[in-house]
Amino acid sequence: MVAARVTVNGKETPIAPAAPHTTVLDFLRERGLTGTKEGCAEGECGACSVLVARPGVSKPTDWVAVNACLVPVAALDGQEVVTSEGLATAGAPGTPAVLHPVQEEMAVRGGSQCGYCTPGFICSMASEYYRPDRCAHAGPAEGSDGAEHGPNGFDLHALSGNLCRCTGYRPIRDAAFAVGMPAEDDPLARRREQSPPAPAATRYTQEDSTFLRPATLADAVRLLRERPEAVVVAGSTDWGVEVNIRSRRAGCVVAVDRLPELRELRVGSDHIEVGAALTLTEIERRLGGEGEVPLLAELFPQFASRLIRNSATLGGNLGTGSPIGDSPPVLLALEASLVLADADGEREVPLCDYFTGYRQSVRRPGELIRAVRVPLPLSPVTAFHKIAKRRFDDISGVAVAFALDIEDGTVRKARIGLGGVAATPIRALAAEAALEGRPWTEQTAGAAAQVLRSEGTPMDDHRASAGYRSAMLGQSLLKLYARTTEAVSS
Ligand code: FES
Ligand code: FES
Repeated sequence: MVAARVTVNGKETPIAPAAPHTTVLDFLRERGLTGTKEGCAEGECGACSVLVARPGVSKPTDWVAVNACLVPVAALDGQEVVTSEGLATAGAPGTPAVLHPVQEEMAVRGGSQCGYCTPGFICSMASEYYRPDRCAHAGPAEGSDGAEHGPNGFDLHALSGNLCRCTGYRPIRDAAFAVGMPAEDDPLARRREQSPPAPAATRYTQEDSTFLRPATLADAVRLLRERPEAVVVAGSTDWGVEVNIRSRRAGCVVAVDRLPELRELRVGSDHIEVGAALTLTEIERRLGGEGEVPLLAELFPQFASRLIRNSATLGGNLGTGSPIGDSPPVLLALEASLVLADADGEREVPLCDYFTGYRQSVRRPGELIRAVRVPLPLSPVTAFHKIAKRRFDDISGVAVAFALDIEDGTVRKARIGLGGVAATPIRALAAEAALEGRPWTEQTAGAAAQVLRSEGTPMDDHRASAGYRSAMLGQSLLKLYARTTEAVSS
């Protein structure tokens, strides 16, 4: 087996002797690439952003920005990374390096003061700069306040995971909206036309700890049968926080994010099957903007930052079993089921039967989530309301997803998924019953909202009080009712 190595700014670099839990951030900084900064070490500030060559959505390769503080460097065995230092091209001897167009715009528009956040912003911006279909979503002309897309198609949400404490965001936005398209001979633009690096079958051991990347699902489930205590990771957005903040270590980590069987997306006649290891960004882009599944399209922009969505997966969000994960309420409303795989084969479990207690589920030791199935046809009236202290990039206090079939003014079917009001994500069964078979009127919505307020067992914590959580459940249904009737009367 080839020794584990990663290509950084075009130079192959051995991963040894880094410990298997060493993050990409620490690995780079220990090798002198100190442009990559640590701000929070938990995926919330973006100071550590770097670019990774990944399988592309519309071209063979995409340059994807990720949080280097969360990803173990062993997960990038055989992969290509570009840092802020690698974006500039070396000048002739004795002359300064030539800035990348994104760096140039940030410099001339005053997008950097103390500079601590700047390399991270640069990498997130560069990822958006190289997004192949960027110009298809051009926004209004320069100067329009509040626009989320620039006239160059730049999506400001690409920067939603980057925080700056001192410059102010206006000059950064100006720089983002001023970048042009990559030149014909831009090496990173040209790199997109070639295949991404294949996943390496990694077995990287230092002292008493091993990082493994099996090549196939069969290998993975066999391995997990032998090592049921292994920590399974995909994007490491959760495990990376455990490693950095809680100093957790594992004797064995198994990466499943490049298993081909977990990366398929199939739209069939009676269901859509989404591979558990596709990143949320990949799902979002492959299902297409407004989306084949509008409720998912409404969820994604509210699910953490673009940097996190570039690594996070549905399998990870469901596998951790958090009661405040953003995807479970939506998938409960969609009546999704999970395909679980182990060495004996597969079984399908409705998501409403999956969670059994706080961070507990019916998933057995050695079992993997292979895919999420969403049945078709979809209910036409849907909404996802995430109540949090910030509009984007925050953890919800409470989250509610609705999927209703309303025919001839009567609610034929109602599915409501809730997060943040119990030890597990739950269905609001009593409120569903209070809607089904009744006319979709203000009176029905009001009565069902009253029922919805009493669903679950919300508690007081630093995010919200129990009373506030209950109140928000009811308000969510009233908001949905108001929206549907506005649409009819307008
Ligand atoms: Fe803050 Fe990585 S250091 S996101
Ligand atoms: Fe100082 Fe952004 S320039 S934190």
